[in-house]
Amino acid sequence: MKPDEILQDRTATSVPTVAAPARKVYVKTYGCQMNVYDSQRMTDALEADGYVATPTIDDADLVLLNTCHIREKAAEKVYSELGRIRDMKEERAEAGRELVIGVTGCVAQAEGREIIRRAPAVDLVIGPQTYHRLPEALKKVRGGGKVVETDYALDDKFEHLPQPKRTEIISRGVTAFLTVQEGCDKFCTFCVVPYTRGSEVSRPVAQILAEAERLAEAGVREVTLLGQNVNAWHGVGPDGSEWGLGRLLFRLAEIPGLARLRYTTSHPRDMDDELIAAHRDLAALMPYLHLPVQSGSDRMLKAMNRKHSAADYLRLIERIRNARPDIAMSGDFIVGFPGETEADFEATMQLVRNVGYAQAFSFKYSPRPGTPGAELKDQVEEPVKDERLQRLQGLLMDQQSGFVASLVGRTIEALIEKPGRQAGQIVGRSPWLQPVILDEKAGRIGDIVNARIMRTGHASLFAEPA
Ligand code: 5AD
Ligand code: SF4
Repeated sequence: MKPDEILQDRTATSVPTVAAPARKVYVKTYGCQMNVYDSQRMTDALEADGYVATPTIDDADLVLLNTCHIREKAAEKVYSELGRIRDMKEERAEAGRELVIGVTGCVAQAEGREIIRRAPAVDLVIGPQTYHRLPEALKKVRGGGKVVETDYALDDKFEHLPQPKRTEIISRGVTAFLTVQEGCDKFCTFCVVPYTRGSEVSRPVAQILAEAERLAEAGVREVTLLGQNVNAWHGVGPDGSEWGLGRLLFRLAEIPGLARLRYTTSHPRDMDDELIAAHRDLAALMPYLHLPVQSGSDRMLKAMNRKHSAADYLRLIERIRNARPDIAMSGDFIVGFPGETEADFEATMQLVRNVGYAQAFSFKYSPRPGTPGAELKDQVEEPVKDERLQRLQGLLMDQQSGFVASLVGRTIEALIEKPGRQAGQIVGRSPWLQPVILDEKAGRIGDIVNARIMRTGHASLFAEPA
């Protein structure tokens, strides 16, 4: 007998007034940071409804797969995972115990009812705009129904999702994500996001400030603002004027306790003067910027509908570096978009050499059903994509290790986040996101300490207190 069944027996016989053990939810998150944030908020909503979170699927009564649809055969991965969970559900059923299976996130939005058709063990399919309806949907499921919710809801999910409790934030650590914007109106021809996350929506200023203040009061030191197009965020400030992300960052920097601010992911077209001024004037805004460009070829940028040229991007980076000389750049790249020639690819390599990235993410183009790119002729052959990706990643890796190596001997500020894997160590984070390994006597979790970088590990930094 499993421990929780024993507990159930006891409560049933000898202590009848004690409530049955809480249902347990296991959430598996795929994809981007916004999914991480959403998973957390879904967990909050379920905890407010009497569930407790569990880190393993084995003792869960409810499994949620929070899925990603951005690349590759993401949907296929979800179906094979669902096959494994179905077997588990059948074993449970034989033992008289229930397992509810839910699919959330972008595959849920893109596939909808098709998921239940292909995987009948699934009870619940719920898209990213309707998470606040999760507890209600689960009631229907427990009543024996199947639920598919993939509307772009008219009511505001953020308004309805409960705020995490103070103690829960503390147990989650000193860094936090905060979604300020969701969806995208840019329609890059390779990208599924405008279809899965819907059109661009900004959260109101007051809601964002309230959430940021709550996080700071609970001990959070670093907040990363999230949005698919985060720098397109806009809102009306308390003074009645129109605010952009730059203005919002200036305001967030005034919140006591919040020592570090970041934002991701940006579009080059939305880097306005005030945002660049925020990089110049705000010590709290970390000198690290993820600014995807995708390609260095104007022909490809046009085909991708990026709405800027390679030269526009380079000029922009120059302006940002003038404002904040120590800023480290990060980016995203796609190789093998339809029609990409060797010369187009070489233009991407040249752009990378010009910019010099501290970090970057590069992908083979993957046709997404329903996007314009998937319909284009001249799809690039897989082996060509493989070979180009390898060359690009070689260059990016060299730049990345060059950047990390350049930190040796320097004294930098590290925000201490958690105990290290080895006894006696603690792990902090550099302004440029590398883990910084220190002796535990260097400070306590939440402190920002001066760390002198002695040597580098794989992508981490070994430091001594300065
Ligand atoms: N194929 C390959 N990469 C893609 N990305 C988005 N859509 C695709 C696709 N269809 C990449 C882009 C984007 C990042 C989040 O994922 O580089 O910036
Ligand atoms: Fe996708 Fe382009 Fe929107 Fe980014 S800006 S989410 S790549 S459509």
